[in-house]
Amino acid sequence: MERPDVLNVGIIGTGMAFERLHLPAYQELGDKFRIAALCDQDREKARDWAGRLGLSEEDVYSDYRELARRDDLQVIDIMVPIELNYKVTAGVAEVVSGRNKPPAIIGEKPLAPTLEQAKAHRELAKKYGIPILIAENYRYNEDVNILRDLVREGHTGETAYFLYHRAQDFPAEMRQDTFAAKEWRQHPEFPGGIFYDSGVHDMAALRHIFGGIDEVFAFGRHQDSTLGQLAVVQVNLRFLSGLTGQYTFYAGGRELIDPPAGFRIIGDKGQIYQADRYAGVIHLTYADGSSREISYRPQRGFYNELLNLYNAYTGKEPIAVTPEMAFGDAKTIFAILESLAEGVPIPVDEKPSYTPDYQSAYGQQETGQLEKVDPHIP
Ligand SMILES: NC(=O)c1ccc[n+]([C@@H]2O[C@H](COP(=O)([O-])OP(=O)(O)OC[C@H]3O[C@@H](n4cnc5c(N)ncnc54)[C@H](O)[C@@H]3O)[C@@H](O)[C@H]2O)c1
Repeated sequence: MERPDVLNVGIIGTGMAFERLHLPAYQELGDKFRIAALCDQDREKARDWAGRLGLSEEDVYSDYRELARRDDLQVIDIMVPIELNYKVTAGVAEVVSGRNKPPAIIGEKPLAPTLEQAKAHRELAKKYGIPILIAENYRYNEDVNILRDLVREGHTGETAYFLYHRAQDFPAEMRQDTFAAKEWRQHPEFPGGIFYDSGVHDMAALRHIFGGIDEVFAFGRHQDSTLGQLAVVQVNLRFLSGLTGQYTFYAGGRELIDPPAGFRIIGDKGQIYQADRYAGVIHLTYADGSSREISYRPQRGFYNELLNLYNAYTGKEPIAVTPEMAFGDAKTIFAILESLAEGVPIPVDEKPSYTPDYQSAYGQQETGQLEKVDPHIP
């Protein structure tokens, strides 16, 4: 039986992000979403998923515009390779615009393969009058929100600087059943390649925690082991608040030393350490010698972003991560690439402060935006 409080979802791109990231979250939120249509340019792939999800042949598409023409979808979730992120989103927005209540669009990160397309993506929601949420899961992750709150609530005192290290074993992952095995990631048709694909999450996290970025200055190296892609990128960042920090991206292998460099935020009153995003714990050490461990559930962003979309569609809260916000994350990566090419610092954000339309992790419990987080802070 049809339930009006359950939103019908059309999926465009039934690849790995659908299977491993979005589908489990839809299943967990089965009282709020129902997958009703599937599209993939590889029709067999969509048909296979239709069989597994109990959908019929009429719900299978290979042309995303045809799926968008259906009038029974409240959500269209787009998960295509990065070079198509803008093109497909713009195509869907064009088809559904003008309807009385058009479906909301979920678009994947990053916004687009080029800065020009990212700028155009930023305008789509207004141009076509359509709600668009960008599935930048880091901004919805519990750990990133806890880190943001700890800094803003003064647990680090005067925050002096940060060190953020990401290591990824692309050479090994390429040969395994992982995202890195995809041909479009190994031979990317967009600048930055794997650095853009992965690093944009880190830029989202850093901007979420510390606000707008004044400028970036980067050095980097390409390696054969990463198929000639950027294997090392080291960036100095200065935020509009005056805070400085150092970000290192390494795609040539995993970190062998335990504990890893991880993410460290240094302040005069307290210092924070997170080994990596899967750690499940954030360490906080105060200058007076006391310390705390704050636990979180890793990778809850996929669930939280869908819950936010549901609440936004039903008028309970605003979309927390808009294309405007994700544009800045992408722009930061393009600024780093420009700095690498030119050998000079490159400016990023213009606004004196950057405060996303997002409440604290504790505040979100009330609005239902994030699930309950128990930060164990007195
Ligand atoms: N938020 C995250 O943590 C995260 C993680 C992985 C991927 N992603 C994003 O998800 C997107 C998809 O990544 P993936 O790993 O699933 O890639 P994938 O290659 O596994 O899947 C993409 C699918 O899109 C299909 N496709 C390509 N062109 C199409 C078109 N014109 N119409 C319909 N279908 C088309 C492909 O056949 C494929 O099945 C990317 O934009 C990526 O950045 C996000």
